[in-house]
Amino acid sequence: MLKIKIISIFPEYLAPLKLSLLGKAQEKGLISINIHDLRKHTTDQHHSVDDTPYGGGAGMVMSPEPWGLAIDEVSNDSDQFDLIVLTPAGKKFDQKMAAEFAKKENLIFACGRYEGIDARVPQYYAAQKNFNVHEVSIGDYVLGGGEVATMVIVEATARLLPGVLGNPDSLKEESHTLTNKDGSLVEYPNYTKPASWRGIDVPPILLSGNHGEIEKWRISEAERRTQALKQE
Ligand code: 6GU
Repeated sequence: MLKIKIISIFPEYLAPLKLSLLGKAQEKGLISINIHDLRKHTTDQHHSVDDTPYGGGAGMVMSPEPWGLAIDEVSNDSDQFDLIVLTPAGKKFDQKMAAEFAKKENLIFACGRYEGIDARVPQYYAAQKNFNVHEVSIGDYVLGGGEVATMVIVEATARLLPGVLGNPDSLKEESHTLTNKDGSLVEYPNYTKPASWRGIDVPPILLSGNHGEIEKWRISEAERRTQALKQE
């Protein structure tokens, strides 16, 4: 079972992880997701989690010790942990990374806010605790914090685990898993009944029953869409 721990100053923000596909996966015992409040690990009167940056500059930086206490609480010295630190300065998340995370036993997500977490936190867990540390971004834009990014990564990862999807064949043909010689293709367009809707007909080839021609058409549509995205 994949065990996921998420540390955040806004634990309620992560409530949707109880719903739908991920809720069912937890009920079935395929994954566990535990959410931890960083502020419970503050030791000062005001429960502060941040401070001004050394060297000056705008914004605040998250202090290392609450993170150290929180990560120590959700880990131990016997199991192998992967620490995923959410930051717009991280490596771009993609389907390949989701597949790697889906093979792990223990994932800890550290949701940074403000100008991020003191850089010694990932350094310490990599060097002193033998964690696999990943600094990850979900795209080239800036969010208010790592919570939404964590939900994206957890959902993309969990649906790859055996038993999570109702129909495992869904994994085979979808966007970014269909591949050709130059990498990944987005999915071909899909249609269902009725065959004519508001004057628009389903492409006749799909009603032909000719599976060989349908497969060729789908691949060419996927290639056309992939090319069109590159032109933008
Ligand atoms: Cl992981 N965090 C923040 N704050 N912004 C982001 C991001 C992460 N990924 C893209 N933008």
